[in-house]
Amino acid sequence: MDFQTLALPEAGVAGINADALIVVLPATGDLPAFGGGVDAALADALKSGDLERKAGRSVYLPRVAGVKAGRVVLAVARDTSAKAFKAAVAAALASVKAGPVKHVAVIGGESTAAHAEALAVAVGDATYHYTRTKPSAGPAPVLAKVSYVVPKAAVATAKTGLGIGAAIVSGMDLARECANLPANFATPTYLGEQALAMVKTHGLEVQVLDRKACEKLGMGSFLSVAQGSYEPPKFIVMQYKGGAKKDAPVVLVGKGITFDTGGISLKPGPEMDEMKFDMCGAASVLGTLRSVAELKLKVNLVGLIPTCDNMPSGRATKPGDVVTSMSGQTIEILNTDAEGRLILCDALTYAERFKPAAVVDIATLTGAIVIALGHHNSGLFSPDDTLAADLLAASAAGLDPAWRMPLDDEYDELLKSNFADMANIGGRAGGSITAAKFLQRYTAKFPWAHLDIAGTAHRSGAAKGATGRPVPLLTHFVMARAK
Ligand code: BES
Ligand code: MN
Ligand code: ZN
Repeated sequence: MDFQTLALPEAGVAGINADALIVVLPATGDLPAFGGGVDAALADALKSGDLERKAGRSVYLPRVAGVKAGRVVLAVARDTSAKAFKAAVAAALASVKAGPVKHVAVIGGESTAAHAEALAVAVGDATYHYTRTKPSAGPAPVLAKVSYVVPKAAVATAKTGLGIGAAIVSGMDLARECANLPANFATPTYLGEQALAMVKTHGLEVQVLDRKACEKLGMGSFLSVAQGSYEPPKFIVMQYKGGAKKDAPVVLVGKGITFDTGGISLKPGPEMDEMKFDMCGAASVLGTLRSVAELKLKVNLVGLIPTCDNMPSGRATKPGDVVTSMSGQTIEILNTDAEGRLILCDALTYAERFKPAAVVDIATLTGAIVIALGHHNSGLFSPDDTLAADLLAASAAGLDPAWRMPLDDEYDELLKSNFADMANIGGRAGGSITAAKFLQRYTAKFPWAHLDIAGTAHRSGAAKGATGRPVPLLTHFVMARAK
């Protein structure tokens, strides 16, 4: 996608040469003047009732008199914020993306960098098109160029925003593509190959450790999850070195369960296919590394991805088995379906060697977070108020909602075991919190936060598919730490 800024012509938008013109107007307050035939068409649409000035409404007008663009879409935003602008653009795009529109010009909003970024992400979202295993999916939308029309004085800022948005879209696309790909394609080996490909394309340093290397490191917890599958596990280490050598890196750790059957604690059948999305944390790490590398941020960033299947078999871990993690702490595996924490704990211990400024793990960790927060907010856990505030600020900037959850020590007692240093489950109550408390036991050596994205990384039903979240949040988090 080609994103451009366009200085608003003196005569208004009517003379702009595009296949479609999207005009975003506020639901309340004075109507801005857009110039030429647009104002008359807008007045007419409102007067006739074809368009109501209510957030989310839009109307598609082919061939408007006095407007050069072949179609005009009028879309109403709740207010003048970037969030409302993004929603209005998304509604408008729904009516042009299936048609012959190659070049769309967009006007409206406050013309800030945040609005420009929101526009780019809305376009990326609307035009993402999965075809890898669906030959009948048909061609992708022909939309190839988007111009954001802003006052002359705002051109430079808008351009910066579009650049950030384009990089975020690129990262989200990679995350969605990896996550949507079925588990018989998107194996641990495949994810390793995706990471290795970024050595050439994005200048990353990448190592893919195999089972033997993980055994040598003592990753007994990670390998206990992997042992039920024929698919070989991988531990992926990616490094982006944009900062000074002495700058402590940010480390992102992504859960890469390529398929979660539950193991011997087998999951029920309905919707089990969606457990191919259990590597969305890993996908978001790949995606964020891509975004950050494309933005050439002056920061050091490490991505760690423990990746394997969770399968039942004659070799699989049994409930009650005790394993020794890389940290030396032992774990009684009471439920083999609580496997995410078992692969993440060894990755967190591995992270110590980077002497990180901060470690953030990202995981489709618990069904309980979906019960708590639904599909809107990701769950954010951190004992560190500064780190939590930074992540919430990044969440707001990236229009990628997250909500802070508690980590009181009282929850930790639920992980007691008679046979090991800890159990891997704490019961049904507060399930997303006890999962986070388990992880916290491996994070004494660095500032740490955990994002539970089980409710936000993918959608079910007719819109089934990966969302690319939380790449926007993570990219903004890393960007704010760059020099
Ligand atoms: N991958 C699942 C969590 C999940 C659930 C992700 C729904 C996406 C949608 C995770 O491995 C899991 O099975 N968690 C269990 C933990 C329980 C056994 C303590 C859960 O949430 O039921
Ligand atoms: Mn599970
Ligand atoms: Zn899982």
